[in-house]
Amino acid sequence: MPSDRHLQPVQLPIDWAPDSWRTRQALQMPVYPDAVALASVQDELGALPPLVTSWEILALKQQLAEAQEGKRFLLQGGDCAESFADCSPDIISNRLKVLLQMSLVLVHGMRLPVVRVGRFAGQYAKPRSADTETRDGVTLPSYRGDLVNGPAFTAEDRIPDPRRMLKAHARSAMTMNFTRSLIDGGFADLHHPEYWNLGWVGHSPLAEEYHRMVANLGDAVRFMETLSGAEVYNLNRVDFYTSHEALLLPYEEAFTRQVPRQWGWFNLSTHFPWIGMRTAALDGAHAEYFRGLRNPVAVKVGPSVTPDQLMRLIDLLNPDDEPGRLGLIHRMGDAHIAEKLPPLLDVVKREGRRVLWICDAMHGNTESTRNGYKTRRFERIRNEIEQAFDLHAAAGTRLGGVHLELTGEDVTECIGGARDLTEADLTRAYRSSVDPRLNYEQALEIAMAIARKQVSLTPAAR
Ligand code: PEP
Ligand code: CO
Repeated sequence: MPSDRHLQPVQLPIDWAPDSWRTRQALQMPVYPDAVALASVQDELGALPPLVTSWEILALKQQLAEAQEGKRFLLQGGDCAESFADCSPDIISNRLKVLLQMSLVLVHGMRLPVVRVGRFAGQYAKPRSADTETRDGVTLPSYRGDLVNGPAFTAEDRIPDPRRMLKAHARSAMTMNFTRSLIDGGFADLHHPEYWNLGWVGHSPLAEEYHRMVANLGDAVRFMETLSGAEVYNLNRVDFYTSHEALLLPYEEAFTRQVPRQWGWFNLSTHFPWIGMRTAALDGAHAEYFRGLRNPVAVKVGPSVTPDQLMRLIDLLNPDDEPGRLGLIHRMGDAHIAEKLPPLLDVVKREGRRVLWICDAMHGNTESTRNGYKTRRFERIRNEIEQAFDLHAAAGTRLGGVHLELTGEDVTECIGGARDLTEADLTRAYRSSVDPRLNYEQALEIAMAIARKQVSLTPAAR
């Protein structure tokens, strides 16, 4: 168990309780027709085992604190939304493979340990721009993710059903269990990166570069083992943490618990919850709920956030300037980041506040094609990340991680990349019911671009 640097409460939030969010305006909440059923599901959830433990949460907090100091780099990625149907061994292991491959590329290129955080085992709720959807004169509640309702345009699917929370908890537990078993069984062993090979490796334009990195790393591992005369144990067992947008507060509340020999409250449904852009209001229910957690937490920061608002959010969520506590995930879009990000970096730097800056290069770059697909251009995603590195270097702050939507499947949802996917390709394998994801090859290419960019920065700016 890691030692906790904050053995004594930094400051127990007074006037906070796991349900104090109920006194604030909670945006993006479904309307459950049966309040009694909702309460009984919450009671049932509250008695079930949690998905993660407090010591894992504190270990991650420590690693995020190190990422703030430039000693690690965070890779946070996974689906836009998990679905119950996709809780399958192939999908889970392929996603793990691509995240492991990306982290290998980052470790190799950046010469830094990578903190791996999945967007999975709980990423089942989605914010929507409208509460209802109308088709052919019929109006039904919008689909809000499998945690809330079903995607089919029928009343049966769309009416929010609290029992879905029980199913989401079970699927999250299965996802965690399988992921942990794979890792414990040696799947993530750096001595055997061939375990992570995905079908494309033989014929991808990136294959050669990837294999070269794997061979180099393998040599380095063997060299270290020869020197130390022992196996490099920490390389055959990597840590994997989970995260999701903590959107549906009744679900999150049910997993907000106290544990023996620890002070305060933990959200034990995930290690690293975040607040989405649409629910990040300072006086809203989500900020109130997050304020009282001991988990490391993150907030999405969009182009409309002002320096003053950002400072007030930091004061609310991390009043004691605790290391590793707060991640700021900026998602500006490649066209706006150069204008919108620097004032935020400047104010945080000037006030001397400790945050982990993370770049989400997906959500500011979504567009619709003429043939009606929601897509993102690879070039714009890469461009936003590269600009982020430069803007942080210029401001004297540090980009400590990236946040990406990706899958280990061979989908065609984003345009561009090594195979130069076009609008016409989108019709071939577009499977996301929400946002378009990088496929495995595009994801790996982004990791290579990050590694190259980092190397090109001067040591002082890294
Ligand atoms: C998301 O991460 O899927 C999302 C909805 O992001 P944002 O809150 O940044 O729009
Ligand atoms: Co998304």
